Amino acid sequence: MFLVTGATGGLGRRVIRLLRERDLPVRSLVRLNARYAELESRGVDILIGDLRQERDLQRAVQGVQYVISAHGSREAATGNAETIDYRANIELIDQAKAAGVQHFVFISMLGVDRGYDDAPVFKAKWEVEKYLQASGLNYTILRPSGFASNLLPLAEQFRQTGIYLLVGDPLSRTSIVSTDDLARVAVDSVSVEGARNQIFAVGGPEILKREDIPRIFSRIFNREPFLLNPPLLALDGLRSAIGLFNPNLRSSLGTLRTLLANEFFTTPAETARLETTYNFKLETLETFLRRYLGV
Ligand SMILES: NC(=O)c1ccc[n+]([C@@H]2O[C@H](COP(=O)([O-])OP(=O)(O)OC[C@H]3O[C@@H](n4cnc5c(N)ncnc54)[C@H](OP(=O)(O)O)[C@@H]3O)[C@@H](O)[C@H]2O)c1
Repeated sequence: MFLVTGATGGLGRRVIRLLRERDLPVRSLVRLNARYAELESRGVDILIGDLRQERDLQRAVQGVQYVISAHGSREAATGNAETIDYRANIELIDQAKAAGVQHFVFISMLGVDRGYDDAPVFKAKWEVEKYLQASGLNYTILRPSGFASNLLPLAEQFRQTGIYLLVGDPLSRTSIVSTDDLARVAVDSVSVEGARNQIFAVGGPEILKREDIPRIFSRIFNREPFLLNPPLLALDGLRSAIGLFNPNLRSSLGTLRTLLANEFFTTPAETARLETTYNFKLETLETFLRRYLGV
């Protein structure tokens, strides 16, 4: 039995699809107000609860061999890094260990090891990585770059308007990963021998500049892009203003700023290691988008 947390999220629902296509048994811990109808129709064992409740986590791991921790605090800007990204994972690791789980897959993020001090989600993931490695559980830690599925609403908006909003440096590099490829890597991590007790950077097969994204949209929709490109300073100004009346939100915005101000890409050596270990070829951003957008 697999336990997948975050099963209603962008990554989690793809992990679920893959597991059920392979006819593997899955349990998910979902909140009552989450959209979980698809999970039910795919035959997932639904456990209603909340990752912040120790008792729910304890129930969730009973009879489970494999855990895929794919939950997150939703938005880098407004999320709750301490309770969801940090505490819920620490508790999940403890409960998994107590229940005799065989393998724990943790979705971290690219750049967690760079010591960004103003980014709560990065810090939470880094601390969880260290805790998991010291836990004695078999583990695989995946550090993905930005997900291609995040771009689907922006692509739809571009299809309608031709507008693309790019905050910060258009030349900064990224290697956006196909969310389906990441789901496959997460699922295969429990069975691929070379993945045990390893950390992998997971990006797309090409290093893009951020300005390449509207170019790809333009190619797909055969439409000239209209680029809105405010500087990062605009976010800083907004953040300072917000900090006057909401210090917590100001702090959470640090993660978003870190994501916008830095480069997140995987090197060719990291890509080769991933493709060799998991024995498949990563798809490009354009292939992913065309598959979903039907163009
Ligand atoms: N998106 C990216 O570009 C990116 C890049 C690198 C790493 N990551 C990491 O990859 C993982 C998956 O990201 P994603 O974008 O797929 O996530 P997402 O779409 O933001 O989904 C978050 C999931 O966590 C669940 N969740 C949050 N709080 C919960 C709680 N208290 N109890 C139960 N469930 C709760 C949400 O459930 P509800 O449906 O109830 O809200 C949802 O299923 C996260 O760990 C994220 O940090 C994401």
